[in-house]
Amino acid sequence: MKNIVLIGFMGVGKGSVARAMVKRSRLISMDTDDIIESMENRSIKEIFATEGEEYFRSLERRVARWLQKSVEGTLISTGGGFHKVPNIKKIGTIVLLNAPFEVIYNRILAHPDAKKKLRKRPLFQEIEKARALYEERLPRYLKIADIVIDVSDKEIDSIAKEIIKKVKK
Ligand code: S3P
Repeated sequence: MKNIVLIGFMGVGKGSVARAMVKRSRLISMDTDDIIESMENRSIKEIFATEGEEYFRSLERRVARWLQKSVEGTLISTGGGFHKVPNIKKIGTIVLLNAPFEVIYNRILAHPDAKKKLRKRPLFQEIEKARALYEERLPRYLKIADIVIDVSDKEIDSIAKEIIKKVKK
């Protein structure tokens, strides 16, 4: 079975959707940011602060090569910029979780841990920069996606159900 790869902007809910999918299926999941943090034994925030973004992207490309070669039948959630790895389409079925930028931003703000959620994301420190990044990325997200799910106004669990149904087709 092919991997299922969840892509989409920071804060759109890739991690929560992955956890809900795991609950309703026999899938095993992994997350590219978690893999990178354990490879480096430090947080994404620290990696960005000490080594810079390009180093982080080189780790993403390394993880992507390993996933393509060594992982199958797995649910893979990714960081918001992971879609840029050159072999993304060879890793599995690409599922884009998407919502308008304002919906994503307001959802983060409504979270009880909003400050923490923003603090750990180096590329979400300034709203206007984050909005510009979203606008810049959206066309490529849409281009590489096999399945697009609009997550606005939907419960996490119904999104999980929708993805499981669509990947089975
Ligand atoms: C990034 C998204 C983050 C993380 C890193 C860079 C991005 O993951 O990989 O901070 O470039 O959009 P989340 O999408 O889980 O926030």
